[in-house]
This record gives sequence, structure tokens and C-alpha cells, in this order.
Amino acid sequence: RAEAIPERPALPLVGHGLGTPSGADLVFHLMKEFKKMGPVFRLRVFGTNYIYVGGLDLVTELSDETRFRKNTPPDQVAARAIAEDGLFTAFNDEPNWRKAHDILMPAFSLGAMRGYHATMLRVCRSLIAKWDRAAGEHAVDIPEDMTRLTFDTIGQCGFGYDFESLRRDQPHPFVAAMIRALGYTQDKVESMPGMEVFKRKQTEQFHQDVKLMRDVVDQVIRQRRASGDTSTDDLLGRMLHTPDPVTGRLLDDENIRNQVITFLVAGHETTSGALTFALYYLTKYPAVLARAQAEVDALWGDTDTPEPEYGDIGKLTYIRQVLNESLRLWPTAPGFAVEPIEDTVIGGKYAVRKGETLQVVTPTLHRDPAWGENVELFDPERFSPEREASRPVHLFKPFGNGERACIGRQFALHEATLLLGLLVHRYRLIDHADYQMKMKFALTLKPVDFTLELARRTSDE
Ligand code: HEM
Repeated sequence: RAEAIPERPALPLVGHGLGTPSGADLVFHLMKEFKKMGPVFRLRVFGTNYIYVGGLDLVTELSDETRFRKNTPPDQVAARAIAEDGLFTAFNDEPNWRKAHDILMPAFSLGAMRGYHATMLRVCRSLIAKWDRAAGEHAVDIPEDMTRLTFDTIGQCGFGYDFESLRRDQPHPFVAAMIRALGYTQDKVESMPGMEVFKRKQTEQFHQDVKLMRDVVDQVIRQRRASGDTSTDDLLGRMLHTPDPVTGRLLDDENIRNQVITFLVAGHETTSGALTFALYYLTKYPAVLARAQAEVDALWGDTDTPEPEYGDIGKLTYIRQVLNESLRLWPTAPGFAVEPIEDTVIGGKYAVRKGETLQVVTPTLHRDPAWGENVELFDPERFSPEREASRPVHLFKPFGNGERACIGRQFALHEATLLLGLLVHRYRLIDHADYQMKMKFALTLKPVDFTLELARRTSDE
């Protein structure tokens, strides 16, 4: 017999809305609720009904693509006002999803990273030039500089466009507009329906921000078309000139714009957060940092300007473990949603309906007892090759699941491993303010107000 999904007593109309915080506090609140309510519970916020899932057995069940598929949850539906049918926010049945997915997949294979490597390295060197000037002089803002780096990397690797963020004091206007616009859509989902009428000014700003983002992207596309370049070496080239293998047709201009916006948004915030968390843990765990430094020193010696090759990235296995362990504790996209393809029963007893949103909360999955003891402890050894081999398949899901999982995963890992390698090779990271973790959440989770001082390493440290 089916049982009701556990939930706390709810008030009429507002449901659990009054006791439910927003932003990063919502993530922490959900993580605490799992401890009290078990691996699945229901939350009603102003008429919207959420089912949250956090335990390994249920997530394993929900990862079965014959029974479940991606669901576009309310925050992503709201973000469609920005990115429409771009890959991330497209509904499963929109034909442009499959078309764009098939056209773009080859541009994200592990092998394709060979083509981006030199550009990624060039952007890393811009950051290093900036940090060399700061070393011994003043602190650097880690999340802001990581955002500059990842934004310029996707701009240059994806679209051959230099946003020059690393040479600007203020973030590129696209980034500022994007952050405000995502904040607006997030806020809309979290407030009582109809509240927009009291937020006329913000709504106007939102429309201006979306227009600015579209104008920037149209400029990128125009510049490419005007150049007469018809190569298909980067994402934009592929989208403009590669026909869909099934229909033989090109993507239309409006969809290309939505994809470019999607890549600029999805392609930098998450990676920037992951890099920031990794630098945080490297700073706070000197033994881990020493091992990471030993790994790069063995590869590059004490040369002033290492020349990392594409093949070196696969050799930085410990740095990859550090990244993975950071993504375990704080997956920067802290969840993904699926829906039953047909009415079904989960966990052997909870009835769920076709199309209903089931939200997987990865920070909780990533602390499941299957990880062993001390799940709160940062320990890159969890990702040693031996332990990886015996880990249940669905215990680590920072990139989502199945066909709608992150297309940019190899891109993010290549970029982040390269940069972390170069940084730990070159600098001592000085925690001058004894940073205490403070996070922000707007579509992605990210540390804020995290600054470090830098010193160049000498050959004996
Ligand atoms: C989808 C995480 C980097 C582009 C996703 C999803 C997750 C995720 C969890 C699934 C969302 C869902 O099911 O609703 C991450 C993390 C990253 C990262 C943690 C970095 C550490 C990137 C990069 C790019 C990218 C670098 C592009 C260059 C996308 C796109 C989708 C996606 C386009 C939608 C795929 C589809 O539905 O077809 N990402 N991502 N991501 N990601 Fe990433």
C-alpha cells in the first residue's frame, strides 16, 4: 500500500512557505531537514509543491532513464525568460534540444579539449600576470577573479570573443546583468505569486538586463559572421555552420542566441564556484596543498613558466581528486530535477505522478553514509583510483544525470585542473584574513568575500 511522502504540518495557502528560507540558507535548510525527515520529504511553498530526494537508494532509482527524465523545475522555467529553449532550460519535447545537443556534443568530447587547451592556457596566463602584480602587494578576490577567468575562457574557447574581464576592474557588464537577471528570476520563484506588481522597478531593470545580454551576444554573432570565418572549430562555428545530422538543417538564429547565452551563463558560474571552493580547501588543508604541489613539481620542476601540454592534465590526478572532493562537499549546481515518465511508486511505497518535480539535493547525496565515516571531512583520498572503482555509480552526481547531464563537464574539469595546477605551482596562498566560509546562492552556490594574499614560491618551498 502506498504511503504519503513525509511532510511537516502545513498552513493553508502559504504551506511551509513561512519557515522556508531562500538563497544559500535554503540549501542548508534542506540539508538539515533530510537529517530529521529521512531521504525524501515534501515541501509546499505558496502552492508550489516540491519533493526533495537525498538518499543513495532513491537517487539510484531516479537515475533510471527508462522511468525518469529531466524535469525543468520552477527556477529553470523562470530562467527561460533569459535563455528560452537553450540546452539547459529547454523542455524535453522541444525539437531544438535534440537538434542542438546532436550538433554540439562532438565539441564537448574529451578529445575536443585538445583544441581548447592552448586558449585555456592563454587565459590562465592572463590571470597569472594579474596575480604576479598583486603578489606581495595586495590581496586578490578569489571568487571574482575565478569568475573573470571562467567567463573569458568560455568567451574565447566557445565564441572566439575576448571579454577582457581580467583586464577590467569591474566585471564585464554582461556578468553584472546576468547576476541581476538570475537574482530576479530566482526571487520571483521564491516570492508569493503576483508580487511582481510591487516590483515594477526591478521588472524594468530585468528587461533591460536581458536586452543587454542579448545585445552582447548578437554582437558576438555579428562579428563572427562579418569575419567571413566559416570554420567549425569552436561552439559558435559549429552552431552557425554544422547541419543537424538528422534533419540536415542548421540551428536558427534565435536558437543560436539562446545557446550562446546559455553557455555564457552555465559555462562559467559553476566552474568559477568549483575553483573557489577548491582554493578554499587547499588553503585550509596544508597537507593537501603540499601533495598537490609535489604533483605539479614532479611534472614541471621549478621552471618559472611551465608549458603544460594537453596530456599533462590527465597526469594531474591528485589535483583532480581535490576538485572532485570540493564538488562532493559543495556541488556548485547543488541539485537537479527529474520527473516520472509515467505514474509510479518510488522507494517501494511512495506514489508519484507523471511529470511531478522530484528534486535531487546533491549536497545531501554527497554526504550519504555510503561515503563512509566523517562525511563532513574534506578528504581527497575518497577519490583515489581504488576507492573510485568501488563507489556506487550514483553516489556522486555533481553534473546531473543521463542524457540531460552537463554537456560541459570535460570542459570544466580540463579548465579547472589546468588552472589549479598552475596556481599551486607558482604561489603560496596566504589566508591573511583567516577566512570563514560564507556562501551565496543564485542558481549556483559560491563562496563570497574570500580574499587571499599571494607570494611567489621559492624553489625550496
Ligand atoms: C547541465 C553542473 C560546467 C554547460 C548541467 C547540470 C548540472 C551541471 C548539475 C544538469 C542540470 C539539470 O539536470 O537540470 C555543472 C557544474 C559545472 C558545470 C558543477 C562546473 C564545475 C559547465 C560548463 C558548461 C556547462 C563549463 C559549458 C561550457 C551546461 C549545459 C547544460 C548543463 C549546456 C544543459 C545540458 C542539457 O540539458 O542538454 N550542468 N556544469 N556546464 N551544463 Fe553544466
